[in-house]
Amino acid sequence: MLSLKEHLADLPLQEIRYFDVIDSTNDEAKRWIEQEAPHCALVVADEQTAGRGRAGRQWFTPKNSALAFSLILSDFDKERVPSVAWATALGALAVCQALEDLYELPATIKWPNDVLVFDKKICGILSEAFWNGDFLMAIILGLGINVAPSSLPEQVDPSLPATCIEDCLKLREPSQTKIADRWQILHSVLFYILNWKSQLTTEELIEAWENRLAYRDKWVQAYTEVNDAGTLTSTQIKEGKVMGLSSDGSLILIDGLGSIFHLQSGEIHLRPLDKNR
Ligand code: BTN
Repeated sequence: MLSLKEHLADLPLQEIRYFDVIDSTNDEAKRWIEQEAPHCALVVADEQTAGRGRAGRQWFTPKNSALAFSLILSDFDKERVPSVAWATALGALAVCQALEDLYELPATIKWPNDVLVFDKKICGILSEAFWNGDFLMAIILGLGINVAPSSLPEQVDPSLPATCIEDCLKLREPSQTKIADRWQILHSVLFYILNWKSQLTTEELIEAWENRLAYRDKWVQAYTEVNDAGTLTSTQIKEGKVMGLSSDGSLILIDGLGSIFHLQSGEIHLRPLDKNR
């Protein structure tokens, strides 16, 4: 069987750190940056004990079941330093393309950081910027993909059920049980990230991203979420119809009066509204 490094040998990665168990691949990436990680350095773990999601949520990664990895990006064009929102867009697009290529699964992007298949969450993305004063040292692009059914947490966000690649394949072909190859998926996602990387903020990337935008032309509610000692409190910000993505990575909505407004990703979440029916 090929090792992880052999699987990824044809990709322009500078260095790979693999862990059977780690707290969080994003946290390991941060520690590595402090020790001068090279550009395009990759942290992969089989299991995370303190995997993190947005809004202080936990991200479940039991062993042998999911993909959890963080890519360190730092060779920025000084004129066009990317934002965290763009890194997230890059990751989401790459996951959609990998799922389409490998399994012909119809994946969509729930702005800003989720990938859905059959309207259920299959992947979450946590991009974080690492600063030294005013200087952006690196962006960490952390992705968690549910592969086997054992990767699904018992408790999920009731407004957004979760799924995994193998369950989606089973749904399509109930008579067949398919084991998805995690290193093949990882290779494909990284391939697309590294290919799109030089085209951040271009029309091509926006178009490819918008073609996969979940809830396009549908009504959504945008809200923020605060996690206070395990209690999630959400506050509604705006309701509107999803129009597309703007060149700074923000989501364009139009409200009932025809006013257009942009949502900057930050800690904003979306939920679909009944007005769509
Ligand atoms: C979310 O849906 O809220 C984002 C989840 C991001 C999870 C990934 S798994 C790899 C990386 N390491 C972490 O601790 N988090 C990200």
